[in-house]
Amino acid sequence: MNNDNKAKFAFGMVGLGTMGRNLLLNMADNGFAVTGYDKSEKMLQFFEEEGKEHNLKGFADINQFVESLQSPRTIILLVPAGAIVDSVITELQPLLDEGDIIIDSGNSHFTDTSRRSLELKDKGIHFFGMGISGGEEGARFGPSMMPGGDKQAYAVVKDMLEAVSAKVNGDPCVTYIGPGASGHFVKMTHNGIEYAIMQLLAEAYEILKNGLNCNNQQIQQVFESWNNGRLQSFLMEITKDVFLFKDVKTGNLLVDEIKDEAKSKGTGKWTSQVAMDVETPIPTIDAAVSSRNLSKLKSLRVELEEVYGPSTKIEANEDFINDLEEAFYFAMATAYAQGMHLLWQASKQFEYELNLAEIAKIWRGGCIIRATFLEDIYQAYITNPDLQHLYGDAGIQAKIKQSIKGTRNVVSSSINAGIAIPALASALTYFDTLKTGRMPSNLTQAQRDFFGAHTFERIDSEGVFHANWNDKNL
Ligand code: 6PG
Repeated sequence: MNNDNKAKFAFGMVGLGTMGRNLLLNMADNGFAVTGYDKSEKMLQFFEEEGKEHNLKGFADINQFVESLQSPRTIILLVPAGAIVDSVITELQPLLDEGDIIIDSGNSHFTDTSRRSLELKDKGIHFFGMGISGGEEGARFGPSMMPGGDKQAYAVVKDMLEAVSAKVNGDPCVTYIGPGASGHFVKMTHNGIEYAIMQLLAEAYEILKNGLNCNNQQIQQVFESWNNGRLQSFLMEITKDVFLFKDVKTGNLLVDEIKDEAKSKGTGKWTSQVAMDVETPIPTIDAAVSSRNLSKLKSLRVELEEVYGPSTKIEANEDFINDLEEAFYFAMATAYAQGMHLLWQASKQFEYELNLAEIAKIWRGGCIIRATFLEDIYQAYITNPDLQHLYGDAGIQAKIKQSIKGTRNVVSSSINAGIAIPALASALTYFDTLKTGRMPSNLTQAQRDFFGAHTFERIDSEGVFHANWNDKNL
């Protein structure tokens, strides 16, 4: 389509739901001329109303929208992940020219992003998969963004993305992540870590509430004190506020009125699925995904509580809350370590060339998993850019060593009281396994060879071996 650059707008957005509108308004605040497209008149009205101070325009006609953009056109998609992304691309594609850029900013599965970028590459169109984190507030006032795609095309959007992103010590919370679908892979992993931290917060709440008999005010105070220390994070901060929020309907604390069945949109599950595919263990993230599924089994849980009885109180001494802080620190560090390890592995396997220090750096602000601890992660990868595992970093090692005694006390006390702590317990078992020089997997290999002649390797010679186990050479 002819585009003589008399067109007015530098960036366009498809999808003017709250996220799309907020990101466009953020761009407009930063001085960029922006336009939006949405089939819904209502969304267009909201957009023009909210943006009336700015020079922006909304279109219900995709041709007019595309024509209004300067070349090379940059079009961001903020539509629900899945088939809608494909149908928007199919609509846009005949209207675009070589060199134009499409940025999918939804939570698309990275394999969809790979496929789309290859299909569009054939037509000379650059396709970016760009995870955005920070929710509606983040989109409006500064998100963390994870763009992956063609490096040269990134130059066109770099300044705009840096301007609209969150900043930490003046550094933008956006960086070029890598080629192909790496941006969406990194955002998916971010969400896996998000699931794990949310589950750890839920387990700390469970221990305080059912193990120690604390009320919501007392729990709020514990979380608040943690948020003033090394456990400071966005999720800790919003969680402490949840405990004091009053329900308008009943006047009770709202948290007590909410059903104990957690929903999900799938990014946590994808993280676990992919981790299995690339054979990288992330059991604390897996436990968080499974916990959401366990929560959905409400009637079965109620029935079985009748049969087997509820959990009991923890016999805690005065150091227990301190031990719980240490357990939370340890498990939180472990959840981040598992996510980073997955990125380390995927980077090799999918040739993403990820810079883990840069990823930790852009997660320090704007995103849902932003936390003081990310500064330590950033420093660990600055010190050693190819660090295989965070447990290997000297600074983190020292803190983990200090927190392990308290962690063991919290995990064993909770287990003895029958309090479900799948993420906390998995973090500790994962740690114990990773520090086991010789695992019992020799036995697994013997069994596999016994029943399936799958062979085994020996500690004293190279090669693969098979034994005639049925000879009963006992
Ligand atoms: C973010 C969030 C965001 C969204 C999740 C929620 O980084 O801003 O992760 O992407 O809130 O998709 O996921 P669930 O609905 O699966 O909990």
